[in-house]
Amino acid sequence: MRAVTVTPGQEGSLGVRDLPEPEPEHGELLVDGIALGVCGTDREIVSGAYGTPPPGRDWLVLGHESLGRVRQAPAGSGFASGDLVAGVVRRPDPVPCGACARGEFDMCRNQRYTERGIKERDGYGAQTWCVDPAYAVRVEPRLGSAGVLMEPTSVVAKAWEQVERVGERGWFGPRRVLVTGAGPIGLLAALLSVQRGLETHVLDRVTRGVKPALVGGLGATYHSDDIDAVLDDVRPDIVIEATGAAQVVFAAMRGTAPYGIVCLTGVSPSGRRLTVDAGVVNREIVLENDVVVGSVNANRRHYQQAADALAKADVDWLERMITRRVPVARAEEAFRREPGDVKTVLSLDPSTA
Ligand code: BGC
Repeated sequence: MRAVTVTPGQEGSLGVRDLPEPEPEHGELLVDGIALGVCGTDREIVSGAYGTPPPGRDWLVLGHESLGRVRQAPAGSGFASGDLVAGVVRRPDPVPCGACARGEFDMCRNQRYTERGIKERDGYGAQTWCVDPAYAVRVEPRLGSAGVLMEPTSVVAKAWEQVERVGERGWFGPRRVLVTGAGPIGLLAALLSVQRGLETHVLDRVTRGVKPALVGGLGATYHSDDIDAVLDDVRPDIVIEATGAAQVVFAAMRGTAPYGIVCLTGVSPSGRRLTVDAGVVNREIVLENDVVVGSVNANRRHYQQAADALAKADVDWLERMITRRVPVARAEEAFRREPGDVKTVLSLDPSTA
């Protein structure tokens, strides 16, 4: 079987290898990979800036946004041959910390968690993979190949849960949401916002391509003006920040309505300096009871929330987010950004590969 591999820390090491088929162990499912979503984290790993191989070797099977079809499921696993599934990314740390011991491995305190395709565990970028049924999530057949959006949707479902939990510390009646960034995370955050009946605004730099139409298709409002002007105009109760751009992050902290919540989901590069009036940012947050909350990864509960959100979504809209499909043999192309990209998906199916 073919697998996409990389040597973390080594730029230019991305390749496609023939590896022996994995053997399921201890009640695992054996899964035929259908598709793999590519995200910024994967590109960072490919550039040599992130990622850790499994112990004892220097390379890693890449990929954490999975979609596959169960080939073999042990009796009592809750899965059957033919089921569409996605695999959970993170595994609890071995200690375990208090959060991991309670199934909240997305909140791991000692950072010794592992992640498939990212940190010390092989990923799902292979034509065959195995997964413990406890870390497999059923994908509705109706979703078809759009089921590859399960993992990014789980990340967004967690972000929304954080916002709601923070909001509920006092009276909470949010009306307006601003999502910054119309990449896959931003668009899925907007989808979940609209599903909550909230007035939803999305800001991105581009004025052309599919993004404005995708936002319009949700019944949300697309903006491409300066962030400060948009914040003045919208005065959001909630900001879901999905650019990781420092200027946008700090503007959002200043520009919410009172009792505003800014949820940060974007990972930014270090080394970019910005001049901010820290006094103004602090004063705003204190005098408005604002909260800035970071959110990463997702636990099983969030995958379930993601499955519920995707089940209610328009499949054609989800499909339109997938702007490029690349066969596994040409994997390198999938990890190069191209103008107009929203979500790039690698096809693992041998008939298309
Ligand atoms: C993944 C998360 C992961 C994070 C940090 C993201 O791209 O979606 O599951 O926790 O990267 O490694």
